[in-house]
Amino acid sequence: MKIKTVKLIVLATTMSIIVACKTKKAPTLVASIVPTNVQLKAIQVKYPDVTMQNLTNGHDIYTGVCTNCHGMKNIYKRSEESWKHEIDVMAPKANISDTQKDELFKYILSMKATQVAEIK
Ligand code: HEC
Repeated sequence: MKIKTVKLIVLATTMSIIVACKTKKAPTLVASIVPTNVQLKAIQVKYPDVTMQNLTNGHDIYTGVCTNCHGMKNIYKRSEESWKHEIDVMAPKANISDTQKDELFKYILSMKATQVAEIK
């Protein structure tokens, strides 16, 4: 092989590696929405009576019955007041009790209070 051809091959290989690296998608940061002690501590600042079981129940409702008709709504894109309103409107649709409504609300507030990333 001629030196010129070798140089061309090396150049082509280098270019394709650079292109491959550039087009590789950056990993998207997806926040966990499973409540932990971090969320519990955060919500207890305002609502000391909330338990881990309450948050777990809220999470189950949010990822369960609340996704029966549409996808998961972004927790972080709504204010506390807006969530309170939406939960009032959606509760009859989801057929959840007042206790469940409260657990869902506290769960959402606990996630908002400890936001690390947007949920798409
Ligand atoms: C029986 C079906 C049904 C269930 C169950 C349901 N929703 Fe909805 N929801 C709708 C419909 C229909 C809309 C309006 C169209 C849309 O935004 O997808 C809506 C809209 C919304 C919106 C957006 C309103 C806006 O301004 O865009 C939120 C937030 C929401 N739902 C939250 C919830 C939560 C939380 C639950 C669980 C408690 C729930 N939904 C359960 C049918 C339902």
